[in-house]
Amino acid sequence: MNLILLGPPGAGKGTVAGSIKSEYTNILHLSTGDLLRGEIKKGSELGLKAKAVIDRGELVPDEIIIGMVAKIIEEHDGGIMFDGFPRTVAQAEALDKIAKIDIAVMLDADEDVVTKRMCTRRVCKDCGAVFNITLLKGDKCEACGGELMIRPDDNEDTARERFKVYISNTAPLVEYYDKKNILCKVDANRHFTEVAKDVLGALENIK
Ligand code: AP5
Repeated sequence: MNLILLGPPGAGKGTVAGSIKSEYTNILHLSTGDLLRGEIKKGSELGLKAKAVIDRGELVPDEIIIGMVAKIIEEHDGGIMFDGFPRTVAQAEALDKIAKIDIAVMLDADEDVVTKRMCTRRVCKDCGAVFNITLLKGDKCEACGGELMIRPDDNEDTARERFKVYISNTAPLVEYYDKKNILCKVDANRHFTEVAKDVLGALENIK
């Protein structure tokens, strides 16, 4: 099964991806945001180019993203869960040429809800696990005990800019996948257990 997780920044795509991964253990979780942050951490040429763009809340150019994803699809044998990709119609068209998508799950959440979630998100410096300060018991990573940090793009101004970029560039993909009859919209303003339950139910139906 190949699936896409669509939705505004901070809607909970990465969080839902974790629930999907625990049910569908063989699926590859391909997050373009995580790949780009990996390049930044390595200090690669791509990472250096991407950092300024990400910190401004803008999108990395299509050709860079499509090239990066195409390479992974070519090398991977099995289902893929695309998280944060595609983000433009050009990316969706490129993806259609190289993979058959079974379902596009759209996590629908309001601007104020996602802005608050991004401003309260914490990420482990060591293992990359994602938390929220509203739910954390201590100040260390609950998975590995590592130090937690705030993503450089998780401040209110950048979060609101990312939401604007989402509306103009990525929201048209909702209609794109609806026309293909593979769109499943889920209300992601709710508690994450309810969101995950609906998403897993939708995946069960296409098995
Ligand atoms: P990326 O990392 O993909 O960021 P994003 O799409 O903005 O998504 P996020 O990772 O911010 O949020 P999420 O929806 O995964 O939410 P999460 O589960 O963490 O991309 C970053 C940047 O890279 C982009 O801005 C762009 O520059 C570039 N980029 C990436 N892909 C690209 C592409 N294809 N093309 C061009 N550029 C690209 O949850 C958020 C918080 O909320 C967490 O704290 C979590 O614990 C909490 N939470 C989750 N669900 C709930 C819930 N239901 N209730 C309460 N809290 C919740």
